[in-house]
Amino acid sequence: MLLTHNVALKTSLQLPCTAHECLVIEHESELPALMAHLAGNPFRVLGGGSNVLCAVPSVDVVVQIAIKGITLLRTEPDAFIVQVGAGESWHSAVLQTLGNGWAGLENLALIPGWVGASPVQNIGAYGVELCDRLHSVQAWDTQLGERVNIAAADCGFAYRDSIFKQSAGRYLITSVTFKLPRPWQPVIAYAELAVQFAGQSPNAQAIADAVIAIRQRKLPDPTLIPNAGSFFKNPLVPAAQALALKAQHPTLPCYPQADGSAKLAAGWLIEQASWKGYTRTIGAGKVGVHAAQALVLVHLGDAQGADLLQLASDIQADVLAKFGVALVREVNVWAE
Ligand code: EPU
Repeated sequence: MLLTHNVALKTSLQLPCTAHECLVIEHESELPALMAHLAGNPFRVLGGGSNVLCAVPSVDVVVQIAIKGITLLRTEPDAFIVQVGAGESWHSAVLQTLGNGWAGLENLALIPGWVGASPVQNIGAYGVELCDRLHSVQAWDTQLGERVNIAAADCGFAYRDSIFKQSAGRYLITSVTFKLPRPWQPVIAYAELAVQFAGQSPNAQAIADAVIAIRQRKLPDPTLIPNAGSFFKNPLVPAAQALALKAQHPTLPCYPQADGSAKLAAGWLIEQASWKGYTRTIGAGKVGVHAAQALVLVHLGDAQGADLLQLASDIQADVLAKFGVALVREVNVWAE
C-alpha cells in the first residue's frame, strides 16, 4: 500500500484540489491493511478522475484501487467471462478484449477513466450500456467488512445509476467481470452508426473505430481541454410533459422509454437556451460550455471548482426557467 500526503489530485477537469492523505493499493491482498489504516473513517474513492468535480481546494482521505489485470475466467456456450482489474484504463481494456477476440465493448470505446468506475454510473454510449455486458462486480463491502461478489441483477442498474452510486463509500470495487456475447452481434442502431454502416455487417473493430471517430469529432479531448464528459444526465420526464414540450419545440430530441416516460436531450435544451460555446471569466480563471457539444462543460484555465459549479447551477436554473425541465448532474461533485 502506498501512502502519500498532500497530493495534488489528477482529474480530467484539472481543477485544483489536494488530498491530505492518498492511499493506493495495487493488489487485493493489501485490502486488510487499507481497511486497518482507514479504521472506519470516511474516505473518497478516485479512479481515473474523469467524472469528478473537486469543488473544494482540499479533501481529507482519498483511496485509489489501482489493481490491474485482464483474465479470461471461462468460456461459456454463449459468452466469454472476462475479469478486469479496477485500475485498468477503460479504453485500453476495450482494445485488449477486442484484440483477444472477445467482442462486445466496442460501442464503449474511448470513454475516459478506469474500469472500476464503469459500474458506478453504468457508463453507456452509442447504443450499449455497461449493464448489457456485465456479469458481476467484485468489491470490498465496508458495511459487512468482507469481500462481496455482486451479480449484475443485484447492482441496481438504471440510466447512469447503480447501487454503487447510491451508496457512495460503501463499496470499494476491486474488479469488474464482463459477459461478452458469443456469437457476437453488431449493435449499430444508434443514428450515426446506422448511417455509417447502412447495408453493411461491420466487425467489432470497425465499430470501435467509428465510435472513436465520432467521439473525437464531438467531444473535447480532456488532455487538451479539461472536461468530465457529459456534465448532466439526459432528463427523464413524464410522457405528457414531453408531448407538450414537443408541440412547442418540434425539433426537441425525445426518446420514449419502456416505462412510459421520455428521455430528452440535455445538450439540445442547453444549446437552445443559448449556452453552447459560452465562456465566463472569473478573476484569472475561465470556464465554459463546449462549442461542439453543449452537454460538456469545460475548464479553460486557472479556475476553481466552485466557478465551474456556479456555471452548472446557472445553466440548470436557466433551462428550468425556459423549459420547465430540471437537469440533474452526472458528474460527481466533491464538496465539504
Ligand atoms: N444535441 C444538441 N446540441 C448539443 C448536443 C446534443 O442539439 O450541443 C442533440 C443532438 O443533436 C442529438 C441529441 O442531442 O439529437 C443527443 O446528442 P448525442 O448523440 O451527442 O448524445 P448525448 O445525449 O448528448 C449521450 C451520453 C454520452 C454518450 C452519447 C452517445 C449522457 C448524459 N450522455 O450524450 O455520454 O457518449 O450519448 O451515446 O447520457 C458521458 O456520459 O460522459 C457521455 C459523453
